[in-house]
Amino acid sequence: MEVVGRAETAVHSPALLDGEDVNDWSKEDEDSVEEATLPAAPIVVESERVDSPPLVPAQRYHEEVESTLQELQLEKNEVKLLGHEELQDPGEKEEEKKRHLNVVFIGHVDAGKSTTGGQLLLLSGQVDDRTIQKYEKEAKEKNRESWYMAYIMDTNEEERVKGKTVEVGRAHFETENTRFTILDAPGHKSYVPNMISGASQADVGVLVISARKGEFETGYEKGGQTREHVQLAKTLGVSKLVVVVNKMDEPTVNWAKERYDEIETKMIPFLKSSGYNAKKDVHFLPISGLVGINMASRVDKKVCSWWDGPCLFEVLDSIEIPLRDPKGPIRMPIIDKYKDMGTVLMGKIESGTIQEGDSLLVMPNKAHVKVLAIFCDEKKTRRAGPGENVRVKVTGVEEEDILSGFVLSSVVNPVNAVFEFNAQLQILELLDNAIFTAGYKAILHIHSIVEESEIVELIEEIDVKKKKDADPKKRKPKRKPLFVKNGAVVVCRVQVNNLICIENFADFPQLGRFTLRTEGKTIAVGKVVALPAPGNSTFA
Ligand code: GTP
Ligand code: MG
Repeated sequence: MEVVGRAETAVHSPALLDGEDVNDWSKEDEDSVEEATLPAAPIVVESERVDSPPLVPAQRYHEEVESTLQELQLEKNEVKLLGHEELQDPGEKEEEKKRHLNVVFIGHVDAGKSTTGGQLLLLSGQVDDRTIQKYEKEAKEKNRESWYMAYIMDTNEEERVKGKTVEVGRAHFETENTRFTILDAPGHKSYVPNMISGASQADVGVLVISARKGEFETGYEKGGQTREHVQLAKTLGVSKLVVVVNKMDEPTVNWAKERYDEIETKMIPFLKSSGYNAKKDVHFLPISGLVGINMASRVDKKVCSWWDGPCLFEVLDSIEIPLRDPKGPIRMPIIDKYKDMGTVLMGKIESGTIQEGDSLLVMPNKAHVKVLAIFCDEKKTRRAGPGENVRVKVTGVEEEDILSGFVLSSVVNPVNAVFEFNAQLQILELLDNAIFTAGYKAILHIHSIVEESEIVELIEEIDVKKKKDADPKKRKPKRKPLFVKNGAVVVCRVQVNNLICIENFADFPQLGRFTLRTEGKTIAVGKVVALPAPGNSTFA
């Protein structure tokens, strides 16, 4: 079978180009690594990543969490079943009552993402005391004493030696109402493509910010990943952000309200300018990931007299994300694949419900496949709906004929496969203030696709101040610009050399939002606004 299209990493992207200002981006410095040389998308399976030890540990916390959670009442519609109920046995129904949320940990390098993620697993009973003692010993031997908690998430030798996450760590825990998959993204700027891969799978982001003197500033300044991660997360479809102001225990902070307020005050305008609604989409709270304070239970007044809000578990468990239509056409961008008595496809279902026995299409190579089995986390299930991260075992296609970036799709109303599309782009910051014009080349990241692309035509510059003008269909065409500069919003035509499976942003936001990166830096975010006619891969 001929294979078309190619991709190395996994991603997603979209931009809410609603005309709001986007803050400056800064330049990478010398030690940044070329994107092309980075390891391929690091979607790591749970069994490889998490030392899965017997439960037992923080029983005390467990009980506190349970009682807190019992008090929390989720909206009934958040616990929606996925249809096909006639096929369900009672056990399965019970299982599906718990909603599932993918949470990505993002933020500047060393902010404490892995430490906080590890602590969350420890507090929810996923890691035992013996394992922690082992990590403490190992971290000491590596002269990285304070990193032992991060070792829960950072499982490979390179990560442990350097104290930096490289691959996206993945782990699971449950509260009463929710099954969580945590995705621990790397903060170092060299691994932004890996972060993109993690964020593209998540609905909720935990943005970890270090309150330690100087650390918040480095992360927030131009070129810091606090900024880049927020903008990418929004673009990639992370609809809610929990901003944890971390390291509150640190001697330079010591739970000072002034420091917390300073960070919140500076972050809010930036979050707004990145497209988040500060009231509805964002929740701030202070924590210590290392010591585990204000995570499973609310911080003791003796430690922090001024905090009256909830703890991290409460916030996560009560977060509401927009529901997606389980009855829509099936779209599952493929992030990875392997052979296991059939071909196993890994990815997140963005639309529709996949069932055992379904006949589907792998696009763009039009391979007809049959679904043999579906796995959610490690559990086999007969169906899975939108938002689920799954492995789907199929027959009808060889593993080597599939690349990440391909899309598992319904046969009727399949995903579009195209060489070109029109996009509305927001230029963030061009390298060395370069000019953006026809002929500009950049790496396109759209859902799990990573592909070289070229801007072949600028169609129209949009005046961002006139918000009503933002819908290109409602405007009279203006003169085509020859070039645009930083900060511009422009409609342009983008071409790629291989067929890619994408959708209009208006139809399937998750398959219609993207980022453009050059030399390891995000230079623009965008959304697909027009595609060739159905069945065509180019505009006539
Ligand atoms: P990358 O994966 O490299 O982006 O870093 P990260 O955000 O995962 O940070 P990590 O968890 O590896 O922690 C970095 C350092 O900060 C370690 O030395 C941690 O012990 C320390 N740290 C993390 N959280 C806290 C905290 O709440 N308090 C204090 N005092 N130190 C912390
Ligand atoms: Mg880390």
